[in-house]
Parts: sequence; C-alpha cells; structure tokens
Amino acid sequence: MTSRLVVLVSGEGTNLQALIDACTDEAYGARVVAVGADRTGINGLNRAERAGVPVFVTRLSDYPAREDWDAALARECARYQPDLIILAGFMKLVGKAFLDAFGGRCLNTHPALLPSFPGTHGVRDALAHGVKIAGCTVFLVDDGVDEGPIVAQASVPVADDDDEAALHERIKVAERALLVDTVGRMVRDGWSVRGRKVRIGR
Ligand code: GRF
Repeated sequence: MTSRLVVLVSGEGTNLQALIDACTDEAYGARVVAVGADRTGINGLNRAERAGVPVFVTRLSDYPAREDWDAALARECARYQPDLIILAGFMKLVGKAFLDAFGGRCLNTHPALLPSFPGTHGVRDALAHGVKIAGCTVFLVDDGVDEGPIVAQASVPVADDDDEAALHERIKVAERALLVDTVGRMVRDGWSVRGRKVRIGR
C-alpha cells in the first residue's frame, strides 16, 4: 500500500524535493498528495506545482486568532487524508487542533542534534557554542518546541572555517538523505512510540 504524505513548507523546499524525487520510485512506499504552506511566493510551492502536486496556503494573518489558523491548517491537511504529515522547513509551530488530528504521525526535521540547539537558529547556535559535530534530527512533533520523540539523527563534522550558511548547506545534504530514509522506513515498516523511544519496524 502506498502511504499518503502531506508536506508543509515555508521556504526553499529542498527537503520536499528530495521526498518528491524519492516517491517517483513505487518501491519507496509513499506519495506526496499535497503541499501546504504558511506563505506564498516561495520556491517550495513552485517545486510542488512543477511536480503536479496540489498545493494550499494557510496564512496566519488571514485568521483572527492563532487557534483559528491552526484549526484551518488541520482541516486543509485532513482533506488529503494523509497517513503522515511532514514539516519540511515549516516555520510555524502547530497547535492543539493540529496535534489532536495528527499527533503521533507528524514529523519535523531540525538542522541540529536535538535536544541541543532547538528553535529557529539551531545552526547559528551550535556554531556559536563551538561544537565540533553538528547534525540534524527527524522527530515526532508534540506541543513543545523541537522537543518531540526523536526518530533519527545524522552527524555532520564542523570545519574550522565554517560560517552559518556553509554549515547549514552541508547539514541539509545529510538532512535530506535522513528524511528520505526515515520516512521510507516508517511507511514501509511502521513505527511505535514508548515514552520517548521511537522504534521503526513491526
Ligand atoms: C532545513 O534545514 C530545516 O531543518 C530548517 O530549514 C531548512 C529547510 O530547508 N528548519 P528546505 O526548505 O527544505 O530547503
């Protein structure tokens, strides 16, 4: 059976592109059925349109309160009956309505080795701290900020002359591979969560 993925983006969409590309192989086990965004004018949406994937935009500023936006986002996603939702560079925190609908089957990717350096500036913060090993984390979204159970991680060595942009680009190479591998294994083999421990496989 092919699992249905809804991917949410806010920017460049290279993680989305990696998923779209992986899904062209039927053996991968998933299909991107829709791409959602919190803003227009981003490359992520262009990538979806080029691939013939339906898109939707749910802007926070179009709703009277954050809860209304969150419920609208959940409704938009639900229309596509996703098995898994992937936040791939989606720069908003989802709320209660969204988690009530999709908690336990919503993945996020973060460009740092959580629980170190959560938040918007994970790469900058890791670099400023002087770490020698950086990396990325794929995790299940809960109501914290980058706090949910960790599904997979990959490490990336920091070079002496790295600035934020150079390190982030190298992390993103590892991040795309990790996301594609993790989503594929989850949809093909299933997963379970006990406390903070996530196990892929039956
Ligand atoms: C990724 O590094 C993601 O972890 C971070 O923003 C980047 C998004 O990249 N939150 P892209 O839009 O998938 O190219």
